[in-house]
Amino acid sequence: MLNIALPKGRLGDDVHRLFSLAGFARGDLSDMGRKLVLENEEAGVRYFLVKPGDVAIYVEHGAADLGIVGKDILEEDRADVYELLDLNLGKCRMCVAGPKDFKDDGSKVLRVATKFVNIAERYYASLGREVDIIKLGGSIELAPLLGLSDVIVDIVESGKTLRENNLVVLSEIMPISARLIANKVAYQFQSGAIDNLRERLIGVMK
Ligand code: PRP
Repeated sequence: MLNIALPKGRLGDDVHRLFSLAGFARGDLSDMGRKLVLENEEAGVRYFLVKPGDVAIYVEHGAADLGIVGKDILEEDRADVYELLDLNLGKCRMCVAGPKDFKDDGSKVLRVATKFVNIAERYYASLGREVDIIKLGGSIELAPLLGLSDVIVDIVESGKTLRENNLVVLSEIMPISARLIANKVAYQFQSGAIDNLRERLIGVMK
């Protein structure tokens, strides 16, 4: 049995559909009610539904052999796992955003609000820009509106949240999408089954 950690929510539904097309799942995740484990004995897979931010933790510790996780979380947490495939789902961009008239003249420490502290730190370190990072749990777009920060580092998908709060993208840090990841030991011992699943996913994606 391959144990696969799926992120709860819309991305999880899309991924489950992809696994279904590849012959690794039946039914619909939304039919699961409050159940967190779904088994497909025939296909040799068992799915766990976990919080998106926890997927890589399950995989790194070997509680799941495989997982689906956003590149944002992989980059932020730097989990010690193999990244096997870009699923081209859950596409968005990690961006710096702020008020449209904001100009960084470099004269003072830049205040940056974000959930993605490590990504923001690495990005500004690469530019040699001194920053003060303010970690928030959500609704990041509020920070510049209330004067808590100058800019934000956050995910932009449709751009609607920025537009509705009079903010614009100032620069793009990296494109984001969902990735198939594997536990390093599991990959050693089950490489046949994992490679087969990966190949079938690639076939469906084509
Ligand atoms: C995410 C992100 C942005 C928004 C971007 O927030 O942090 O706020 O989605 O999407 P858009 O470009 O399509 O508007 P999420 O909904 O996860 O809530 P959060 O504020 O709690 O992070």
